[in-house]
Amino acid sequence: MSDDSDGSTGATAASLPTTAAGETLLEVRDLRKHFPLTQGIVFRRTIGHVRAVDGVNLTLRRKETVGLVGESGCGKSTVSKLLVALEKPTSGSILYKGRDVAKMSGRALKAYRREVQIIFQDPYASLNPRMTVGDIVAEGWAVHADVAPRKGRLQRTQELLDRVGLNPDYVNRYPHQFSGGQRQRIGIARALALRPEIIVCDEPVSALDVSVQAQVVNLLEDLQDEFGLSYLFIAHDLSVVRHISDRVAVMYLGSIVEEGTDEQVYASPSHPYTQALLSSVPLHEPALRGQKDRILLQGDVPSPADPPSGCRFRTRCWKAQDVCAVEPPALVDRGQGHPSACHFAEARRVVPLEEGR
Ligand SMILES: Nc1ncnc2c1ncn2[C@@H]1O[C@H](COP(=O)(O)OP(=O)(O)O)[C@@H](O)[C@H]1O
Ligand code: SF4
Ligand SMILES: [Mg+2]
Repeated sequence: MSDDSDGSTGATAASLPTTAAGETLLEVRDLRKHFPLTQGIVFRRTIGHVRAVDGVNLTLRRKETVGLVGESGCGKSTVSKLLVALEKPTSGSILYKGRDVAKMSGRALKAYRREVQIIFQDPYASLNPRMTVGDIVAEGWAVHADVAPRKGRLQRTQELLDRVGLNPDYVNRYPHQFSGGQRQRIGIARALALRPEIIVCDEPVSALDVSVQAQVVNLLEDLQDEFGLSYLFIAHDLSVVRHISDRVAVMYLGSIVEEGTDEQVYASPSHPYTQALLSSVPLHEPALRGQKDRILLQGDVPSPADPPSGCRFRTRCWKAQDVCAVEPPALVDRGQGHPSACHFAEARRVVPLEEGR
């Protein structure tokens, strides 16, 4: 991240205007990121593009959690990098508190980079092995000096470690001295240190044991309540986002194919891809096992460098008709109560609802 320090040393961090609870914080409109595919070493020429993100629309409100789900390679991490300004969009826009991020510079961009933090899937790779935990957590204060007064930084770091469930006496330890779950907690403390409004959680529990996953998800939920955070929570499995998300967006090959509240997407999925994903979700309630509508997804995800015409899911869809190869289906409500990008969208219960849900 660039250091475009404006030299401010005041006690309060520079920030963009605040919005009330429930108001839209982030609005993503027709976002695209196409990576050039090149050939040749001396004379590099572009022979095509990987359409990693190809027309994504998303809204994130204050204190809300939006789950973004899809198989590996569908563009989730690219969306998260675009959101935290680690990548520049090919087209489309990201509006934060109503302002276009692409047009931000100076103080506004610096504030944006502080207010929108990210935690990564692999806590092994995302923490510098040669830095102590204390230095990792405090690293962002070098750029955003106004967030934490210089004098109380050690104490603040220890408070943060304590808050994420780590022993505050471990500030001088190195990442390799911690377990996977603990390392993810270090990543969370590092993000929290900058007092963000939004945390983009890019598969934060996918690399962790199932028992540890729940602990980290619970921690994120507690922190959300305490600090009024908003999350974009990414996962490749619908079961992981189920309990944390207010709304869920299902992604396939660069775009969103179904979107709705937690209840709408789980109780009445209407896109064949969502139905297939749900059918592969493990059920934790023993009494409900065996009651699932099994749908086996055929084949692999096609290459985003050469996506199928029309509906991108058609090469794996059991409902595909001729029109599917010609007309890309819009993400709209066709009477099933929430938007779905399928010409033949039809709600179908795939998993029984668990007790009390
Ligand atoms: N820097 C890059 N250059 C070229 N292709 C990329 C780059 N980053 C990601 N991709 C490609 O974009 C697609 C989406 O990747 P990614 O966003 O990492 O998906 P996900 O996080 O859902 O697994 C993949 O086909 C991936 O190979
Ligand atoms: S539009 Fe056609 S191919 Fe696409 S999901 Fe719907 S039925 Fe399947
Ligand atoms: Mg990813």
